[in-house]
Amino acid sequence: MKYKINPKVTLIGAGPGDPELITVKGVKALQTANIVLYDALINRALLNYVPKNAKKIFVGKRKGFHRYSQDEINELIIKSAFEYGNVIRLKGGDPFVFGRGAEEIDYIESFGIETAVIPGISSSMAVPASQGIALTKRGVSESFWVITGTTSERKLSHDVYLAAQSSATVVILMGMNKLNKIIEIFKRFDKSHMPTAIIQNGTTRNEKIGLGTIDSILEVVEQKDLSAPAIIIIGEVVRESAKLRSFYENMYIENPSIQT
Ligand SMILES: C[S@@+](CC[C@H](N)C(=O)[O-])C[C@H]1O[C@@H](n2cnc3c(N)ncnc32)[C@H](O)[C@@H]1O
Repeated sequence: MKYKINPKVTLIGAGPGDPELITVKGVKALQTANIVLYDALINRALLNYVPKNAKKIFVGKRKGFHRYSQDEINELIIKSAFEYGNVIRLKGGDPFVFGRGAEEIDYIESFGIETAVIPGISSSMAVPASQGIALTKRGVSESFWVITGTTSERKLSHDVYLAAQSSATVVILMGMNKLNKIIEIFKRFDKSHMPTAIIQNGTTRNEKIGLGTIDSILEVVEQKDLSAPAIIIIGEVVRESAKLRSFYENMYIENPSIQT
């Protein structure tokens, strides 16, 4: 006997990398999946929550795998919903923070398919927090900007110019291949001494961190061989972190001329 398919798509934020940084609601939804379409930056351990007979398809970008375009992913989601019913779309961090979650929801809903979104902990907040960096701190930073270094046209976001002129903490995602340009902009707006941290694979076993200032960070990136996926955090709050403070104290003792 054929059972009736009820197409439904749930976008789940998988969190920043540590498999324990997913929500309880996210785990419960994974346990009901008929099929899961997952991205590159999600922790594979999360797939253990998915029922054994459910299908799992990797749709992220990684060497050696077919590179799905966003249009292909959209088509696959629709096809899966009509074929399997309950589709889970598992995305890194939060689906609505540079995750194309909104585009996927708009497309799915245009087919009249029911959707749900389960928020995730974005790397933009969790990765700094894991190093003790408070994005806002009374008397130090009143706000924070989360910007993409690379827009959908592969260009540097104009917002980087605006953020460099503000007193806000600046968090840049997808900025590693535009790092030279980003540094140049911050220097142009007299931020050469601003504490800067770059964290690669934050909250995971492969985490790597580089610390410095706008002036020194390119050298640090080279020395430590830092690359994507990484976030760039620029602001006084970086040196306020109890975990990182001694690095900055030593830096200023060794180079008193850069004391601000
Ligand atoms: C396409 S965006 C997705 C962001 C995601 N939706 C979020 O909320 O974290 C991918 C970028 O997020 C950042 N990112 C994601 N996970 C990270 C991690 N664990 N450590 C450092 N950066 C990370 C990197 O800048 C990476 O290039």
